[in-house]
Amino acid sequence: MKICMIGTGYVGLVSGACFADLGNTVWCVDKIKEKINMLNNKKIPIYEPGLEELVKKNHKSGRLKFTTNLELAVQSSELIFICVGTPTSKNGSADLKYVFKAAKEISKNINNFKIIINKSTVPVSTGDKVEKIISSKNKKSKFAVISNPEFLREGDAIRDFRFPDRIVVGSNNKKVLRKIKILYQPLVNKGAVFFSTSRRGAEIIKYASNAFLATKISFMNEIGNLCEKTKVDVEDVALGIGLDKRIGARFLRVGPAYGGSCFPKDTKAIAFSGDKFNTNLSIIKSVIKSNEARKSLLTNRAENILSRRLKNKNISFLGVTFKANTDDMRGATSSLMIPLLHKKGAKIRYYDPTGPKKEFSKLKNVFYCENISKACKKSDLIIIHTEWDEFKSLNFNKLSKIKNCIIFDMRNLYSPPQMKKLKLKYYSIGR
Ligand code: UDX
Repeated sequence: MKICMIGTGYVGLVSGACFADLGNTVWCVDKIKEKINMLNNKKIPIYEPGLEELVKKNHKSGRLKFTTNLELAVQSSELIFICVGTPTSKNGSADLKYVFKAAKEISKNINNFKIIINKSTVPVSTGDKVEKIISSKNKKSKFAVISNPEFLREGDAIRDFRFPDRIVVGSNNKKVLRKIKILYQPLVNKGAVFFSTSRRGAEIIKYASNAFLATKISFMNEIGNLCEKTKVDVEDVALGIGLDKRIGARFLRVGPAYGGSCFPKDTKAIAFSGDKFNTNLSIIKSVIKSNEARKSLLTNRAENILSRRLKNKNISFLGVTFKANTDDMRGATSSLMIPLLHKKGAKIRYYDPTGPKKEFSKLKNVFYCENISKACKKSDLIIIHTEWDEFKSLNFNKLSKIKNCIIFDMRNLYSPPQMKKLKLKYYSIGR
């Protein structure tokens, strides 16, 4: 099929490359010329394992094309995916200006029947508004607007595209649904469930999924706080409850506050939608509060570990991104922890496999180190912030020259008995 992806970010570029890899012809459009030039010169603007090879292979085959020319791309395609950002507005709602701008541009280029597909995460009833924009310039018989949210995790996006638990499509148009089913048939053949519902249903499914996953994580983090007070190992509790198939074992890992480009944004947006439709989503609102409070709770914990004497203390961070296998700092707990600890007089060194971060570049006593040993050699406190594989088998005795160096393992990569044997002062989460 001939496809146009409007927006070449985490969603548009990954989905576009994966659609091309299934044999479709895909135009990826972006208004940022530099991004399109990078892609046409075989450079990838985002960090996503496996993406570079996939893009190069399909660009070389001619199936995957990059352009700033939206008119050409839309007029050459039958399926038009809107994959632009929906950032959080000041009042917590999803900012839809890029979605509506894309809709306006599309409406000027309907040269034959088009299926316009919202893949961006958009609040319930956005599809109705997109349809209204396009029908202001085109007869309703010339197009259809449907919803097809993505469930891609950063760092696992290609796998999540290729092996989704389900493909959710929101439309009541049988002919259009048949067409979309053909598009996704290769994934259905490998076991994915093709689930169709109303357009608004699909819009709510996306937000409800993310809000529920965020709730699961925050719930476990709070149970972890109770475990700390009652000398229980939260990992046992996570295993014990996760064995109940109604709960499920995944997304029960305690850690820093959840971050990323989606959970923080989407929980706020669905809470806002609730208020807009006069329904108070109180549980999600409490998850937002609990997660935000967690950042200062863990910063406070780090201070207590150093008996609140931070002046000139050397603290090392292993990993600063919001999770492993991404370079994304959005919503990372480190973005609050490091400036706060720095303000209290600590000297901070950090190592992250994805390199130095602009978030810390203006902090006088915060230094990026190019490897683990340089980051840790003078540490009074080593904080494991992100669960990168290379932090999972550290040789602690060789890490710091400081005799009573303390470990604060915010991802529970190690176990208290193991660390006791090494005679290390070890703190973790929920234990
Ligand atoms: C999420 C959703 O998983 C994905 O389906 C959606 O399309 C986009 O948002 P992402 O934000 O990329 O994906 O990463 P995810 O792996 O979900 O982690 C989100 C946050 O939750 C991270 O900060 C992670 O560290 C945290 N997390 C995740 C936990 O703290 N515990 C867990 O068990 C799982």
